Formats: sequence, structure tokens, C-alpha cells
Amino acid sequence: MTITSQEELEALRRIGKIVATVLRDMGKALEPGMTTAELDAIGRAGLDAHGARSAPELDYGFPGATCISVNREVAHGVPGARVIGAGDLVNIDVSAELGGFYGDTGASFAVPPVSRTVTKLCRDGKRAMWEGIGAVRSDARLSDIGERIERFADKGGYTLIRNLASHGVGRSLHEEPESIATWRDRSERRRMHDGLVFTIEPFLSCGATYADESDDGWTLLADRPVPTVQYEHSLVVTKSGPVILTMV
Ligand code: CO
Ligand code: CO
Repeated sequence: MTITSQEELEALRRIGKIVATVLRDMGKALEPGMTTAELDAIGRAGLDAHGARSAPELDYGFPGATCISVNREVAHGVPGARVIGAGDLVNIDVSAELGGFYGDTGASFAVPPVSRTVTKLCRDGKRAMWEGIGAVRSDARLSDIGERIERFADKGGYTLIRNLASHGVGRSLHEEPESIATWRDRSERRRMHDGLVFTIEPFLSCGATYADESDDGWTLLADRPVPTVQYEHSLVVTKSGPVILTMV
């Protein structure tokens, strides 16, 4: 969506803060021995407490309140009986709706003890996201986002998952502009404009480049069994840069 009023901005900030708070609380609650269903229940309780509704459930009939993806699962993992163990890399993606407005955020959490490689990947995954966010401003090219992220990934010797793009958000979970690449995309001609609302969510990896569908019809699996992380914010474009919506 493109916002045209202060009221819309405030509504997006409200749901943005809710999803950010729920994500933070789930990250804090995460510990070895719990199942992904138990972690999801904490997320659902958090959304309920604010009167918000799970976006994947509402828009797609997803079987869970949040997406929880462990290790080789990189996105849209279905909460269930899987027990989280020490050393796991757990991605939590929280998106929700309140009063017709949507927010979307995500982060990967490494359950200690983890290798130096994974610790560094988590740090750099956040940096990759912020590199992309740094390209946001009215009239800038959407392709600048992927250009900056890929340059950063190359420098660190990382790969990017190339079939999980960022997207417009606001009046639904996924809307125009669809398919914003977080990698170099020479065919991208669109520009950002004042008030445009979208996510930036690069998937930074130690070697994977593609996410494949799995048998459950939801979970997406990295094409290689290597650590992969995702960090995501929803934001609004302004003349002076981005306004991040998904902040606690
Ligand atoms: Co998300
Ligand atoms: Co998203």
C-alpha cells in the first residue's frame, strides 16, 4: 500500500509494534527442550493479548500463528512436535493484522552453544538487512536494495537465497510491489515513492541459493544443509529515508 494519511501511518505503527513485541518475546522464551508448537503458543497468546490476528492464518489458512523454521527449514515452517535442541538455528516470522492493517517481521535465533560461524552469520544477516534498508528513499530504485545486499554478501563470502523475495505489505500480508529482490536484479525498473510500504528480508546463507518446497506444502527447505538466516522489517518510504514500522 501507499499511505496517504497520518492515521494510516499510526495504524501501521500499531500493528508493527505488536509483531515486533511478539517476536522479541518468542525469542526470549526460546529454549532447548521446547517444541515449536509450544513456542508458537506463546506467539499466539501475544497476538491475542493485543487483539491482533495471525496474518498467515488469516490470509492463507496457515496451520499456526507464526512461522517457525529450524535449521534447513528456512521459511514458512509449520509449528508442531519438533523439539528445539541446543545448537539449532531457529527462524521466527511474525506477521499479523489489526483493524485491517498488517505488519511483518522476522529474525533468526541461534540456540547456544553455537559455532563462531553461526554467531557471525546472525550478526551479518542483520547487517545485510540494514544494508538494504539503507537504500530506501523516495525516487530511489528498488533494485538498489538487492544491489547493496548482494555486494555485502559477496564481501563476506556468503550466498543469498534467490527465490524468497521481499514484498509490499499493509492492507494484506503480501501485496504490490511484489517480488522485491534482495539480490542483484538487472531487470528491476521500479522506483520507490513517498508512502510506499514494504518489507526487506534477505536470506543470508553459508552456501544455499534456493529454497525448495517440502512435502507438507508449506515449509521451504534450503537446497544445501548449511546455516541460513533471515531478518525482516516492514517500513515506509519517505523523502528523508525509511521509517521502520516493526520496532518494539
Ligand atoms: Co515475514
Ligand atoms: Co515478509
